Amino acid sequence: MERQEMILWVQKSSQSANGSWFVRGLVEDPSGSMGFICFNAESVARVKDLTSAVPVVVSGQIQADRYSQDGKLQLLADFIDLIAPGKDVSHLLPTTTKDIEEYKKKFIKLVAQVKKPPLRELLGEIFSGERWESFVRNPAAKRFHHAYIGGLLEHTVDVAETALAIVASMPDIDRDMVIAGALLHDLGKTEEISSEIGFSYTDSGHLMGHITAGVLLVEDAARQVQYFSEADRKSLIHIILSHHGDREKGSPVCCATREAVIVHYADEINAVLQQFDETTDKDAQGWSFNKMLGYMIRV
Ligand SMILES: [Fe+2]
Ligand SMILES: [Fe+2]
Repeated sequence: MERQEMILWVQKSSQSANGSWFVRGLVEDPSGSMGFICFNAESVARVKDLTSAVPVVVSGQIQADRYSQDGKLQLLADFIDLIAPGKDVSHLLPTTTKDIEEYKKKFIKLVAQVKKPPLRELLGEIFSGERWESFVRNPAAKRFHHAYIGGLLEHTVDVAETALAIVASMPDIDRDMVIAGALLHDLGKTEEISSEIGFSYTDSGHLMGHITAGVLLVEDAARQVQYFSEADRKSLIHIILSHHGDREKGSPVCCATREAVIVHYADEINAVLQQFDETTDKDAQGWSFNKMLGYMIRV
């Protein structure tokens, strides 16, 4: 492989029996990722103490990884150098294949469907300015699902549309609350995950997680909106708090309203079905072990 720009994660740096250092990890660009190993002393010295993903220029040979049981390929890197800070490397970040502008339009249409003025005003208040900019750019996850630029917007719109499809077949559901809850359920991810290289967790992400961060943002915004009812505030906060479904999955409370159940399952359907779309490694019959689910799926 000729020299090319990629993102590099060092996962392990160790010394061989002869005392020389080598590094192992992952290299990635929008087309995919691959394990790498490097024994080249100068290159190793440049990267062995890195603790986060960095943009690099790398070259080497692609070969079978002899430690892999399923015949995976890896890059035997013979050259690695860091790309100078400040250089635009946005082309290296994985990005949604969907049309972001189209998704923005869909999002705005969903907000417009909310009939209660204070609830609609709350959404307009939150999804504006810098928050909107980071919302439409952010990935929805660091790994596992929609972990690419534009992923949070795409996931949120798809969850809201799935939730509305469920509502269409059911009576006695507060449709406004379902739309607002779906659009806000992962808002805290704008605080939790950085949209820079590596999509690392921010301090807020480590300290609070996206559920708490989302609740704080919505609480804060609800106080600014006139005539926002106490009942709506509680219902909306409940949807955010319970959207992971149960305590083992990080929700402090389980879904206790119809609207919360709908948003939770719409979220779950979207995240699980996305596993089928994002699977790249599969056997000849289409089977693949899915890390998020922890079992085999056929894609
Ligand atoms: Fe979530
Ligand atoms: Fe979600």
